[in-house]
Amino acid sequence: MTLRSLLFVPGDRPDRMKKALGLGADALILDLEDAVAPAAKPAARAAIAAFLAQPRTMPLYVRVNPLGSGMIDDDLCAILPGAPDGIVLPKAEGGPSLAALDAKLTGDIRILAIATETPAAIFGLGSYGGITQRLAGLTWGAEDLPAAIGATQAREADGSYTAPYQLARSLTLFGAHAAGVDAIETVYPDFRDLDGLAAYAARGRRDGFSGMMAIHPTQIPVINAAFTPSPAEIARARAIVAAFAANPGAGALSLEGSMIDAPHLHAAERLLARVRP
Ligand code: COA
Ligand code: MG
Repeated sequence: MTLRSLLFVPGDRPDRMKKALGLGADALILDLEDAVAPAAKPAARAAIAAFLAQPRTMPLYVRVNPLGSGMIDDDLCAILPGAPDGIVLPKAEGGPSLAALDAKLTGDIRILAIATETPAAIFGLGSYGGITQRLAGLTWGAEDLPAAIGATQAREADGSYTAPYQLARSLTLFGAHAAGVDAIETVYPDFRDLDGLAAYAARGRRDGFSGMMAIHPTQIPVINAAFTPSPAEIARARAIVAAFAANPGAGALSLEGSMIDAPHLHAAERLLARVRP
């Protein structure tokens, strides 16, 4: 099932993890990385392990610390017995880092890579395909990369991303689809600005992202709505599929005054595959 909204919950906040179960997110990301201070990591590992041991009511991903941090093995040792649904890999740097994490996992655990957090990561965005069936998606971030390169800002005055981060976002989108996995939009940090979030998420869906990460409960319904096909979109997709079914062998057809051909049929089938029962 496609994940529309993935809510981050700091791993050292067990109260919030419990609360997060009832908020309507499609998945949670229990964080051991940036939202947890170094001294709090051991307690956070224990809290996440205890949370994973409860009966599972929704997909639970865990964001571990990066490969090479010296912390990831302790993270995995603590959480793998609880069989998380997935691991979020921060500071991923392409296929080799995906293979390195894959080798540490057993069982049915997916991987969501955050694929734009270091300068080298940008050059690995086309290398995620064909490595492991565990790969569920690629996502991106515009917080760590500017810090890594000494940029003073990732955003223009109007809030839109500057050119380097638009490039990172676009390459993530194409890298995910080249690997045959979902592209997931990054967080919208200003959690009080729900109109801005709605517009941002709508652009993500328009461009080919299938879901988005959230940081605050109020963001979840907005994100779910943005990544759910509307009744009108579903009706049009069904009409396109029906038109080709009624005209077997046809290449191009007309529907309501516009031309439809193979890409339209493909897009319609993709959209219908995402419709939730
Ligand atoms: N998960 C579950 N519950 C959350 C939550 C989250 N991520 N963020 C907020 N809440 C809950 C609060 O517990 C509070 O519940 P209550 O009304 O029952 O007390 C309610 O939502 C309102 O919270 P609010 O006061 O608006 O937020 P805050 O100022 O306490 O916290 C953040 C703001 C950003 C620190 C918090 O939303 C958060 O921790 N987000 C995730 C951060 C993260 O993991 N970042 C790493 C990836 S970028
Ligand atoms: Mg980070």
